[in-house]
Order: sequence, then C-alpha cells, then structure tokens
Amino acid sequence: MTTSIPTPATIGTKRWLNGAVGYEVYVRSFADSTGDGIGDLAGVTGRLDYLRWLGVDIVWLTPFYPSPGFDHGYDVSNYCDVDPKHGSLDDVDVLLERAHQLGMRVVFDIVPNHTSSHHRWFQKALAEPSSAERDYYLFRDPAPGGGPPNNWLSHFGPSAWSLDEASGQYWCHLFLPEQPDLNWRNPSVRAEFDAIYKFWFERGVDGFRIDVAHGLLKHPDFPDNPQIERVADTAGPIERFFSFEHKYDLDQEGNIEIFQRWQDVARPYDAVLLAESGVDDHARLARYVSPGALDLTFFLKPGWMAWDPEKLIREFVGLATTEPMRIAWVISNHDQARPASRFGSAHRSLAVTTLMFALGGVPFLYQGEELGSPNGEIDPADRHDPISTRNATDEGRDVCRTPMAWNSDRFNGFSAVEPWIKSAQRPAEMTVAGQHENPRSALHRYRRLLSIRKHHPDIWQADPKFVATDRADVAAVQRGRTLTVANLGSEAFSINLGDLRWRVLFASQGGDGESARGVVNVAPETTVIFAVDQ
Ligand code: GLC
Repeated sequence: MTTSIPTPATIGTKRWLNGAVGYEVYVRSFADSTGDGIGDLAGVTGRLDYLRWLGVDIVWLTPFYPSPGFDHGYDVSNYCDVDPKHGSLDDVDVLLERAHQLGMRVVFDIVPNHTSSHHRWFQKALAEPSSAERDYYLFRDPAPGGGPPNNWLSHFGPSAWSLDEASGQYWCHLFLPEQPDLNWRNPSVRAEFDAIYKFWFERGVDGFRIDVAHGLLKHPDFPDNPQIERVADTAGPIERFFSFEHKYDLDQEGNIEIFQRWQDVARPYDAVLLAESGVDDHARLARYVSPGALDLTFFLKPGWMAWDPEKLIREFVGLATTEPMRIAWVISNHDQARPASRFGSAHRSLAVTTLMFALGGVPFLYQGEELGSPNGEIDPADRHDPISTRNATDEGRDVCRTPMAWNSDRFNGFSAVEPWIKSAQRPAEMTVAGQHENPRSALHRYRRLLSIRKHHPDIWQADPKFVATDRADVAAVQRGRTLTVANLGSEAFSINLGDLRWRVLFASQGGDGESARGVVNVAPETTVIFAVDQ
C-alpha cells in the first residue's frame, strides 16, 4: 500500500529554492579574520569557497548587527548596521558579492519579536512614557493586586515581565529583560520593519531567517496562560516555559497577516522569507507557508529530540505528508545540542539527515554537522549562554557554539588568539583539514549526499509516495526513479525491490554504487537512497 501525495514540482515562486541545500553559519564561531577571538564577516567570506566545495546553495548568517550581546546578537540595537566586532557594511557587500560569484545565496537573520534594551526606541520609551516609541513595546500596568500583569514566563526564566520603576509599569519580554518585545499591533512598528527589510534587500541580501516568527503578536487582553503540568523546583527555564500552554503569547492568528505584508516587500526582490517557528503541530505550522505567507518554515521539533527512531519517523513523515514542499528540515542549529551527541553517534545523525534530503523542501546543516561533530567541551565556569549564566539549573546552549574546527593548529584554526568561548581543542580527525584528506570521513559523506541531491532531483522533486512498512522505525519514500529507505531501528529491514535493477546512490554508512534487486537488507540505523539503474 502506498500513500501518494499530490505535490507541486516546485517549492513556490522563488525558483532558486528548488533543490537547494542550506547551511547555518554561527558568525561568532565560524572564522575570525581580525585576531580578536570573535568570528566576523570577513572570516565568513574567506571560507565561502569551502561551503561551495561542500555543495551549499544558501548560507544563513546569524545576527551580526550592533548589539550589546546579552543574547549573542539576538538583542539588536540597530537593525541597519554591522557590529564593529563582526565587521562593517563594506564587509557585507564583499561577502554578498563573493557568495553570488560562487553561485550561492545569502540569508540574514532578522529579529522582529524584540529589540535590545539598548535600541534607541526602547531608550526613548523608558525616558519618555508619552513618546510614540512607548507604544512600540508592550508596557502594562501591574495586576490589580500588584506584581506582573499576568503569569507569562520568559523562555530564559523567570517572569516575562520586568518593572520600569520610574513609571510603575511592566514591560513584556519573552526572552531576557534586555530583549523587550515589540508591539506588532502598532502600525509604526510594521512600517519600521518594512524599511529595515528594504534596506537590506537593496543591498543585495537574498532573504531572511525570521527569529521567533511565532511570537510576534500577543493576545490583546493579555490573559494568563493555562498551566499544563507542575514542574519540580529544580526544573530549568525552558522546561518551566513549556509546562504552560502558550495560548495567548505565541502562535496568534494575526501573525499570518504580518507575514503576508512582509512577503509583499520581499517579492519584488525575489527574496526568501524563512520562519524560525517553534510550532510543533504539523497543520498549524503549514499555515506559516500558506500561499502569500512565508516561503519556508523550519520545523524545530526533531532538533530537540533524543534518539527515538519511531518518534523521529512519525514527525518527519507526518509533516512531509501535511506540507510536502515548504519545510526547511533541520536537526541541528545554534540553540540545540549537536545531533551526534543527542542521538548518540554521528552515523545516526547522518541516517536522519539522509532521510531529510528525500522529503522535499530545503534541508539545512549547521556548521560542523558535516564533520559529525559531537558537542563542544566547556568548563562550566566558562559558560556564556544567558540561559545557564542566569539559571543554575540549565547547561545552556554553549556546547553547540564552540568554534568551527578548521585544522589542528592552536584553537583549531578558528582564530590566532583564545576564542570568545573557551573549549577543548578538537582532535585532527574532527577538523575540516583532517577529514578532507580522508575519503571515508563524514565530510566526504555529506559532500556526496549534497551532490547526489543535485544530480538526482527526483529525490526531492518527484511526486512522493510513502510506502507502508510493518515497522514504525522505518520510512520508505518513492519519488520518481528513486526510493529512499530510512531504517532508524536496531534491526535490519528487508524490502522487496521487485524485478527492476536498482543501484545504491547513497548509503549513510557506505556501500554507494552497489547494485540491488529483489529482496535487499537495509542495515540498522542506516538510510539508503536507491535509483532505478538505466
Ligand atoms: C531564537 C534564536 C535564539 C535566541 C532567541 C531569542 O530562538 O535562535 O538563539 O536566543 O531566538 O532571540
């Protein structure tokens, strides 16, 4: 039995997305060209040839705008400039030009849910409560009995409200107090962001990854969120945050209308809008990429999951059958523990990634994932992430933010001086240079996977037919002349390929090029892409 999903052959109107593979660069930790221990734009430009060699089409850069750095750039104090620690506007131009010469597109990160508390809008809002800027933010009176206006929590703990002592009102922040949330019901905020988008589109950027896209609007009455379960006193802020149903602070209906407005700004530039959306429900997430809204949305849930083959298969297949083309697939980013550690091995991570490459949409890798890197090792005293520095109960996100390991030089070739974040040196076999020399390395496996996708567009483009199997830890999808079988389980899986002659295009644990016919075995924790042999 097969389930056939009618699907358009293209992702949408931005044709350059078709068949593309994305790669996230965490700018602070990618390459330092100036010798201050902090990654910068010129450092990224110097490594674009590497990304092209790997087969990357879209480079997503994390925020490099002026920022006091309370949340490492996700607290922006000026949306139309570059922080001197990351370079200059000229460096942006050079980076874009070089990427375009190499045939790659570049997507920046925009942070519209909140600004930095150092942004001139917020400074004015605090200094002059009667100013227009006051209503750019969400200031509210205390609850009738005193204290915060409602029970909302910050992702980074504890309350989502901080008191402005001068006025006696609280401001809302779903992250740090230094990241005040904007009021997206205010037309001036909407107009300000239209201008910010245009500023960068005119400069040649190819699109934006939209930070916390699901957070923009809050319920106008600010009701309490319902609590789902009680958590232990020792629970970290994220666990605490998700012990509530985010009925009134996240994923509000009107967000889609804002996306449509942004799309009207982006469309004439052929620029792409890609959501970071913490929405797990497949049907609700599909709304973000409904016609006229965003081009793509990340599906973040698998990136938070530990190794759980059945659950992983259920999530991937469930969403791929709900929204076959406009998902940006990802199991790793700068907020999540590295999948080689989370899943328990690099080969599991590649097995899942290989499935992702066969689901339509656009798969994204996070820097270092192509090396099968496990988490970085950091002394607890050297942690930087505010989630851990402000909450003793959480390890935070530093483990995935340690510098890119280029070679075996001191600091792994990332910088000439101690990097902004101290971590254990990576061994030679975990570096780009070390793996480059070894044709059996993770780096070469990933490179081949990217190339297979490019040369066999059936894998992502042809009408997908999910083949029913008797195993919940296996997914099999046929697209045109290809068949991808993901066996995430711990037992081999046999499948009958019938009388046709097939060839193994890519097997996550090796074996490419072998021919296959009749009943074949797919090894445990392995994904294989077969193609009908000519
Ligand atoms: C997003 C970013 C994360 C940041 C948060 C607040 O989730 O990926 O790094 O801390 O938004 O801006």
